[in-house]
Amino acid sequence: MLHSRTAASRLLRCATRWQHSSAQPTLNSITSDDIAHFAQFLPQNAILSTLSPISVPPSEIEQYNTDWMGKYRGSSTTVLRPQTTEQVSKIMKWCHERRIGVVPQGGNTGLVGGSVPLKDELILSLSNMSKVRSFDPVSGALVADAGCILESLTEYIAPHDHIMPLDLGAKGSCQIGGNVSTNAGGLRLLRYGSLHGSVLGLEVVLPDGTILDNLSTLRKDNTGYDLKQLFIGAEGTLGVVTGVSILTPAAPRTVNNVILALPTFENVLPLFKLAQQHLSEILSAFEFIDRTAYELAVKHGQGKGLSDEEIEGAECFVLLETSGGKKEHDEEKLNILLETLLESDQPLITTGVLSQSPAQFVSLWKLREGVPEAVSKEGKTYKYDISIPIASFKEVVDATREQLRRKGLLHEDAVRHVIGYGHVGDGNLHLNIAAAAYTPEIESALEPFVYELVASYKGSISAEHGIGAMKTHAIHYSKSGVAINLMRRIKQVFDPHGIMNPRKVLE
Ligand code: FAD
Ligand code: MLT
Ligand code: ZN
Repeated sequence: MLHSRTAASRLLRCATRWQHSSAQPTLNSITSDDIAHFAQFLPQNAILSTLSPISVPPSEIEQYNTDWMGKYRGSSTTVLRPQTTEQVSKIMKWCHERRIGVVPQGGNTGLVGGSVPLKDELILSLSNMSKVRSFDPVSGALVADAGCILESLTEYIAPHDHIMPLDLGAKGSCQIGGNVSTNAGGLRLLRYGSLHGSVLGLEVVLPDGTILDNLSTLRKDNTGYDLKQLFIGAEGTLGVVTGVSILTPAAPRTVNNVILALPTFENVLPLFKLAQQHLSEILSAFEFIDRTAYELAVKHGQGKGLSDEEIEGAECFVLLETSGGKKEHDEEKLNILLETLLESDQPLITTGVLSQSPAQFVSLWKLREGVPEAVSKEGKTYKYDISIPIASFKEVVDATREQLRRKGLLHEDAVRHVIGYGHVGDGNLHLNIAAAAYTPEIESALEPFVYELVASYKGSISAEHGIGAMKTHAIHYSKSGVAINLMRRIKQVFDPHGIMNPRKVLE
């Protein structure tokens, strides 16, 4: 009897614990009293709020509440723009005590709805924290505030002949803290690897306001768990990144790029193999755009790589870049590759254009980097950022188009284009669907269809953009229950009140 009562009470305890851990934490809305508290330690221009006594019109908050794609929209009343780590710490301490949800925001260029609130959480913008703290031109270690714009960091280190280890189309707006928080991949990953390798240290304000100063500039440091790795790609769910220490490589002495037109997608893989063999250490990017992506980029003024005759019969294009130490050496290697390609019995390419000037180099890159913007001008974009075997890129784009056709959705008033582009060298396809509007019909034709397709290749449903708000329900397609459970426990350790970027990454 005693035994069964103990068992019953143990069961009851388990049930209670289950209830606690599965319940959504209740978060509080910001009030005028909170604003009065923030005003004690923040300058007036660091507080934007529709609440009194600040009372700005909602239109001033709009850009912070809306994401880059115009797909996600929050209803926050307040944006804080602190200037120092101590101010961030005080904000977090208060929000932790008051159970106020906080959304860290960088350049707001994220593509999965992670950077905007889903309700009325406080928006903590890092845009006023934009100072370079130090740069060592010998080791290449750069320490910067999280709010530094990626492009300004590139410009800052350029006179020292260094470059940032990452580059992406959003470089003019995205911030280094946002890059780290999304573990952004981009156009240089093939050469310099992921941020998990190049970030040397981080300064992070934890949800309760504690400052974790891990801003090391050491190349090697095996003292226990490497905590910074947890914040790289955490999408603001574990803390606010306020400072970043990052290893910047020496700038290559010479760079070249070439755009290649391919008669069929089948040729992409053999071309990649051949490029690796011929170019080895100087191959720094191998990017892919399909015909639709190319035509949209040209249509929307994102550069023009080839003439109309040259693109005749081309199914897709590859933008290949080399970065090396000696101009003649690199050009010789590239020319041998091009000759091999054109002179073979069954040429892998129909034509290719090698950039002849810095301006043409930039223009060829614009053609690739400008694709997201060009696609966005065609309507509303559904974006699937997936890792799958390179050989399957076309299959996935075609299967998705076919699925939309079957559902009767492939026409001007519904889905206008199904597009494929991406980082072939990294096995990362960007499958984009340009539609007249975001509608439940299109969404249910695409999901779970795309996720199931990706899972059938044992791929990843998020190669580089993250989970954000978009994919919380789909994370199980790429991660096991054991892994998701561990993630939940980590989140609980860092953020027991669930205030950090609520309902992002984990449901
Ligand atoms: P935001 O969009 O503001 O935030 C993104 C996420 O990080 C959010 O969850 C936010 O809460 C969190 N966050 C931001 N700052 C902090 C911080 N300081 N501390 C804690 N959390 C924070 N991505 C790629 O990976 N590769 C690409 O090639 C690429 N190209 C792009 C091209 C275009 C045109 C656009 C619009 C986007 C592109 N992206 C790309 C996606 C996006 O730009 C990157 O993910 C970028 O790293 C986001 O930086 P951000 O400062 O804009 O962050
Ligand atoms: C890119 O590679 O261009 C980016 O990741 C943006 C996008 O996917 O649209
Ligand atoms: Zn990308």
